[in-house]
Formats: sequence, structure tokens, C-alpha cells
Amino acid sequence: LTSSGGLLDVTLSATPATTVIGGRSARVLGYNGGLPGPTLRLVPGDRLRVTLVNGLAGPTNLHVHGLHVSPEGNGDNMAVMVKTGESFHYEYRLPADHPPGVYWYHPHHHGTVADQVFGGLYGTIVIDDPVPIESSRERVLVISDVTLDGVGAVADASAADRMQGREGELVLVNGQLAPVLALRPGERERWRIVNACVSRYLRLRLDGQRLQLLGIDSGRLERPAEVDEILLAPGNRADILVTALEGGTELRTLAYDRGTATSGGMMGGSGQAATGTEVALATVTVTGDPVAAPGAVPRQPAPLDLRGATVTARRELSFDMGMGMGGGSMMTFTINGQEFDPERLDTTVLAGSVEEWTLRNTSEMDHPVHLHVWPMQIVDRGGTAEAAVVWRDVVNVPARGQTTVRISFADFAGRAVYHCHILDHEDAGMMGTILVR
Ligand code: C2O
Ligand code: CU
Ligand code: CU
Repeated sequence: LTSSGGLLDVTLSATPATTVIGGRSARVLGYNGGLPGPTLRLVPGDRLRVTLVNGLAGPTNLHVHGLHVSPEGNGDNMAVMVKTGESFHYEYRLPADHPPGVYWYHPHHHGTVADQVFGGLYGTIVIDDPVPIESSRERVLVISDVTLDGVGAVADASAADRMQGREGELVLVNGQLAPVLALRPGERERWRIVNACVSRYLRLRLDGQRLQLLGIDSGRLERPAEVDEILLAPGNRADILVTALEGGTELRTLAYDRGTATSGGMMGGSGQAATGTEVALATVTVTGDPVAAPGAVPRQPAPLDLRGATVTARRELSFDMGMGMGGGSMMTFTINGQEFDPERLDTTVLAGSVEEWTLRNTSEMDHPVHLHVWPMQIVDRGGTAEAAVVWRDVVNVPARGQTTVRISFADFAGRAVYHCHILDHEDAGMMGTILVR
């Protein structure tokens, strides 16, 4: 669905849906009956109107992840709650200088975000480049995971899954198991990849083919970087060029050790390891007549480097997991010792400022930390300075480690949230509120 005349007006209907996954009939959740939801294509300066219709059994809402838009009113407002059978009209105005790239949308109703995203509620937003990059084809690859039970329904998460962050047994590309992507030798394709998994980290490889990274999240590199592997935490996106070389291959994700919720025998050693496993996501075939080499990639504008900025305030946020009171087996998920409370204001920021936040992780698992509306630049990863300047909206904070970011609050006042993008952790309370004024 593509904008015209500066406007894209769409209806997204969240409902139970029936689809076929790996030859089996599956009962999932979907926007407009499919998996994933429709791809929304816009250009900077556009308006996006979404009528969200709730055909689910419980409340939902919509979040446009990564878009630099107002968090107020009927914009990207996390206070909106849409009840069963009701609808809501969202309107988002993209600034004229909105960064091009890959974004996505998903529900954000606290307490059921993981269930709804795991169920199938996600879709891609592409903001097109002002100067197009030549490619023979563009593909959107939404990578998600799901577990189906014996009757083809989406499996419920166990208490251990919720602590660890659930990972589905089936890893899907655009709602399909192991699709085939056909290319011709020499062809250069543009792939827009979304990690829509609730908790799974992706370490993507396409061995034997040429991979060039154009950008991550809203960040764009000045020149494409030649890469072998791309790490995407839950919520991250990658914008890449694939140049096809003779001989097929597989798109794979390698195992990633994100730690475990259950350390020191607290849970009697029953915790599953969250190292994940290597999974073949898609088969890539390269056959047919060779295609002439495409033109050079135009150089992108250099991103503003916040390392040279004046920092107005420094903060420390501690992401902690602890055992619940009274010896219960439920773990607590907190930021600076507090569980999410939508009524409480945790962080107040002066509009127009640049802040430096040190994100500390006292637990045995990684937490991918996400801030709405305002983009972040990593300046330090626990003692290692960051080489490239890239705007991101999800930054990984490794187990027992820390990551320091700088954030530009140059525009958009209002109230929003930051949270762990392991959506089970968010639902369990690892989320805080921020007001920019
Ligand atoms: Cu993708 Cu607050 O989320
Ligand atoms: Cu978000
Ligand atoms: Cu987490």
C-alpha cells in the first residue's frame, strides 16, 4: 500500500486468521487476514492515517516502531486502548526530513504485547529514499517465530517462556516456512528485513553471496558496508543489498547466546538455554542468464555525530531481574528497581537537548533496549568505543554489561516509553515512561 499525493489512508483490521504454515492449517492473529500485515510505503513528509479495527477477543492498539513522529493525541500514543469491536483513527505526520529506511508496526497494549505479536500481528513500514538506489527487485522479509500446538493454534507461553522470553519453534519469513527466493546471477536486490520475533536474536548469513549493509533501524551508512553477518536484536531492522553470485545458498540465522533467566540454580536448573539454534530461513537459488552489473550506490548524507554534541544531562538506567517477594517463582523485571506504571513519570527531558544514558544490565541475560520516538546513537559498549555513527532505536545491552547511548530530543514533545524489546519482559514490567517538554 503506497501513499499518493502525500497521504496513505489504510484500515488495519486485527482479527483471528487462518493460514497455512509448512503445509499445516494454522489459526493465528493477523492484520487484514494475512501474515504479515500489509507493507505501508511512504516518503518523508507524508501523512499516514490508520483506522485500527479491533476484531480480537481483548484490547489492542497500534505502535509505529521507529518512526520519528509525535507521541501525542492520535499519533503514536501509548495511552490509546482500543476495546474489542471498536476502532481508532491514528494519524502520523512524517517530518519532511524523516530518515528513509525500514520501520514496522505492532500492537502495544501492555500485558498482551508478546501474545499478540507472537500470534502474528506485525507489518512493515518502508520510507522510500529521496534518491532511489538501483536494484532489480525489492523484497520485504519479515522474520517472526511461532509455536503451533497439536490443533494448529498458537501455543501459550509457559511461565518459564515468559521469564526467558518465548522463542517459537517455527521461524517464518513473511509468514512462510522455508520459502524459495529466486535470483539471477549478477542481480542486485534490495532486502528490507524486520526482526519481528518476540525474543529471538537473528544472526543472519547468506554465505556465498555478496551482502552490503545500507542501514540499521533509522540509521544509514554513508557508503554501503560489505558484511558477512548481520545481528538483529528483537525489533531491529536491516536495509541491505544482495548481489547474486552463481550457486545457490540458504539464508540462515546462527545460534546466539543471549543468556538465561535462571542462574545459580534459582529455578532448580529447569531453565532452558536461550542460545537458540541455527535455523535455515529460506532457500536462495541463483539461476538463469546473467544480468548486467547495476550502477553505483549514491553516497548518503553523513549522519549528525552526537559524540561532538553538548550533553545536557546524564542518566543511568539499570535493567534488573530479581526473584519475586515471598519466595514465589515469578521473576520481577524492573528498570531502576521499578516495574512499569503508566501513571508514574520516570524520566523528564528538556525538549531540544541531547542526553547521554548509560544502560546497565545486572542480569544474566541480554536486554535489547528500545526508546520510542527519539533515536539513539551508541557511543560506548562497556569500554569499547563505537566506530560507526548509526541511529538506532533498539540497542543491545549484554548480560552483566552496559551500553552508553546519546539521544537527540531535537523535536517532538510529549509522553512516551522505553522498554526491553523482549516483549515478554516488557509485559512483565521492564518499561519506563518519559516526558519530553
Ligand atoms: Cu517495537 Cu515499544 O515497541
Ligand atoms: Cu517502538
Ligand atoms: Cu529483557
